[in-house]
Amino acid sequence: MTAKLISGVEIARQIREELKGETGRLKEKCKVTPGLVTILVGQNPASMSYVTAKQKAAREIGFHSVQENQPETMTEYELLALIERYNRDPKIHGILVQLPLPRHINETKVLYAIDPKKDVDGFHPLNVGKMVIGEADYLPCTPAGIQQLLIRSGVKTDGAEVVIVGRSNIVGKPIANILLQKKPGANATVTICHTGTKEMASHTRRADILIVAAGRPRSITADMVKEGAVVIDVGVNRIGKTPDGKALLCGDVDFDAVKEKAGMITPVPGGVGPMTITMLMMNTLKAAKLAAGIESR
Ligand code: GUN
Repeated sequence: MTAKLISGVEIARQIREELKGETGRLKEKCKVTPGLVTILVGQNPASMSYVTAKQKAAREIGFHSVQENQPETMTEYELLALIERYNRDPKIHGILVQLPLPRHINETKVLYAIDPKKDVDGFHPLNVGKMVIGEADYLPCTPAGIQQLLIRSGVKTDGAEVVIVGRSNIVGKPIANILLQKKPGANATVTICHTGTKEMASHTRRADILIVAAGRPRSITADMVKEGAVVIDVGVNRIGKTPDGKALLCGDVDFDAVKEKAGMITPVPGGVGPMTITMLMMNTLKAAKLAAGIESR
């Protein structure tokens, strides 16, 4: 059997069309234009390409978008002052500081400095706490994108065995919290595996839905996957360059072998990646509506 491909590109395109329509109506009826600022410190090539893609998506949907490219030498104090400026700017509804930051800047301090109402990444501890108790305004973008992929592909999560590989604050921990909520598109039994897990394959083989965010290229092999499982690959590993000089990417799943065993699978690229950016747009639109009092908390 060959698995059905879950196309993040196609699902992201549909959602972006919906967001474009809603943004147009918000501008026309309420004279509100959602505003997003992305702050990049330094020149990490992966971060530069992510931020460029976020800005492009924002402009295409019709947002007011501002890109702040700051030098690697920027001090923590200067970054905190810049964030404060955007916290006070009424034209900006969402603030995104691209991670990772240079080593001399304390990431936690920076995430605390963003006004939780403008924290469209969902990384501020207040928003993390609200997510855990099922009261989130903004779900973190990659996990929210994974949930949308499952919902829009008709995958039943209610009562499903979900196994997550990886316990990062950006993916593993939040997707576990989201999928265990007693809500539609969730209500699953969730296991998180990590580098301390013994007999990893004994867990992954039980999964109806296997979500992999381990950061290890092609580390999930076919023998670790149950026949017919839904496999979501969050890995983005740069393994070389294409003949035309673009980054050659592969996931954390051995795609060619696993697609012969899984029921559904996401590709890399073109799976989770486009959804992350789309969820950032959804959160920014929501932030603008909340600020305008059009949507209540
Ligand atoms: N770096 C990798 N993923 C993300 C993300 O979702 N948000 C931010 N701000 N930085 C990241």
